[in-house]
Amino acid sequence: MDPSKILLTDQVAIVTGGGQGIGEGIALAFARFGADVVIADKNAEAGERVAAAVTEIGRRGLAITTDIREFDQVQALVDQTMSDFGRLDILVNNAGGVRYSPFLDLGQRGWHKHTALNFDGLFGPTDAAVRAMIKGGRGGSVINVASIEALRAAPNYSVYAACKAGMLNFTRTLALELSEHSIRVNGIAPDVVMTPHLLEYEQQRSDQSGGAESRSRGIPLGRDGTPEDCAGACVFLASAMAAYITGITLSVDGGTFASSGWSRRPDGTWTLHH
Ligand SMILES: NC(=O)c1ccc[n+]([C@@H]2O[C@H](COP(=O)([O-])OP(=O)(O)OC[C@H]3O[C@@H](n4cnc5c(N)ncnc54)[C@H](O)[C@@H]3O)[C@@H](O)[C@H]2O)c1
Repeated sequence: MDPSKILLTDQVAIVTGGGQGIGEGIALAFARFGADVVIADKNAEAGERVAAAVTEIGRRGLAITTDIREFDQVQALVDQTMSDFGRLDILVNNAGGVRYSPFLDLGQRGWHKHTALNFDGLFGPTDAAVRAMIKGGRGGSVINVASIEALRAAPNYSVYAACKAGMLNFTRTLALELSEHSIRVNGIAPDVVMTPHLLEYEQQRSDQSGGAESRSRGIPLGRDGTPEDCAGACVFLASAMAAYITGITLSVDGGTFASSGWSRRPDGTWTLHH
């Protein structure tokens, strides 16, 4: 096997929500592995900062301010990518976010707000990007950033968990529909990934979560995830190394989903439901 199959040389990627956190990590890793990267973030300043970092790595970085919920903006994003770069190989549907949302506090407006971002927001970028990939005739790769909450119950995050679970089956189903165009569709399911936004959120909610130290005891690999952990999985899934992989969502969670209630005591022994 040729080890250079992991490289993304001269491919063009769009990363939604690439202006910070996990998306930023993915955008920078793609650039390091040889891709040009379009940052599609609603925050213009954040997008410009990451695009400049991509350029500094030696690849073309371009920020196109986009709200993934607005189809016109998403179509303009893909049109500009095609006119500036001439091709589109990779789409990462990363924009999204978790908010504390007990079901009885949500109301219809809250429900729609969450679904608009975390589920409906999948439509525009996927539709526009996949049509461009089909037109290009070179196949492509779509990567959906789901969450471990797609795989387990998540009290007080029901709507987020439902959206991410929907994303999982969208990933599988779209993989079948697009296979005839050689477009692979996969996803990643991270557990907690410490990003600036999450750090701030956790500080506000430290009474609930117990913080990184207590959480790390429940994570078999003993620490929170990082944007780089997620980016490594995305580079693999986007690359020719994963040429025969489609329809899967890869857990990037330090073993948390597998542990399913088991945790390690400070003395190294294991306990269930503790
Ligand atoms: N951080 C975690 O612990 C974690 C765990 C599992 C899954 N995820 C998922 O990973 C993805 C990224 O999470 P993060 O923690 O890096 O988030 P973040 O809040 O740090 O960054 C999200 C980025 O997306 C942008 N964004 C938000 N709404 C947008 C919109 N409508 N259109 C375009 N851009 C928009 C923001 O401006 C920001 O730059 C999300 O889908 C999230 O659900 C995160």
